[in-house]
Amino acid sequence: MRLIDISEYDYQTMVLAKPIFDSQKRVLLAAGRTINPKILSRLEDIGINFLFVEDEISKGIHIDDMIDLPTWTDSIEVVKDFYEQVQSGKRPDIKDLQKVGNLLLKEVKVRPTLVLIPSGTMAKEVQPYAHAVNVTILSLMTGKKLGYNDRKQIDLAIGSLLHDIGKVLTDEYEKHPEYGFNYIRNNNQLSVVSSHVAYQHHESVDGEGFPRQISGDTILEVGQICGIANLYDNYITQKSMAPHEAMEGIMATSDRLYMHKIVQAFTRAIPTYPPGTKVLIGKGEQAIVTQINTHLHRPIVKVLSSEQEIDLAEDPTIMIEPHSD
Ligand SMILES: [Fe+2]
Repeated sequence: MRLIDISEYDYQTMVLAKPIFDSQKRVLLAAGRTINPKILSRLEDIGINFLFVEDEISKGIHIDDMIDLPTWTDSIEVVKDFYEQVQSGKRPDIKDLQKVGNLLLKEVKVRPTLVLIPSGTMAKEVQPYAHAVNVTILSLMTGKKLGYNDRKQIDLAIGSLLHDIGKVLTDEYEKHPEYGFNYIRNNNQLSVVSSHVAYQHHESVDGEGFPRQISGDTILEVGQICGIANLYDNYITQKSMAPHEAMEGIMATSDRLYMHKIVQAFTRAIPTYPPGTKVLIGKGEQAIVTQINTHLHRPIVKVLSSEQEIDLAEDPTIMIEPHSD
């Protein structure tokens, strides 16, 4: 299995590796199906831009460290329901959201790393909620690297799930962190730490962020973590960057947008080359990532011409670079 941009889909050589859902969580196309050109353009119309496919070169590749699909789609549904209720002036039950936070924390705790399912595999309507779930997973992975305890992780998770809740309460983009902060702060079932995650996720170390232009150490770590996670997921989803490009973008923000310590924890938590990524190794030989073993940035790859598997963590002299065709 591998992830491709929808424009790379070839119905003669590829079948779907995971089902495709519509915005109501109904299965539009089941795994194992091929997609004819007419359906393909319908998928593009509803805003789907990534597909998981099975083809000759990705045969035998399982993305073991990927969050399981039901956990992911159920979490998205809870978040969607919560945001919609808040938007219509209701006071949704916080318990379901806490359950999602706990479930995601458990996933992050038991796995050495986690590969994200891009929001772009879902219909456009659902993408903001898939984004919130992905930001939460990325935040939790970073918190784990920083040695946060469960209490702090849960506060970070709830803050990340609700980081954009202000968007359903105001149309003024620059004000959404403040609206989010007030919403969370005024709910006595939610923690003050979570409210600051929403308040500070657009602030930056250099004081050029918003809404308060606070800078340096006055920004909390949890706000910075959610900010990085948010930027990374936007690079992937909105700018269609490959994971290694998004990671380079994040590294370039060190000490400017985000504290070095947080950037470092983030880059140590998130794999650069998820399984199924096509790469060039050595002197330009085509290969595909089959597994992440011990080193997040030096995966195990299979050379396409010889089918030979090489663990790049064991041979640091072999160069690896991205390959797109
Ligand atoms: Fe935001």
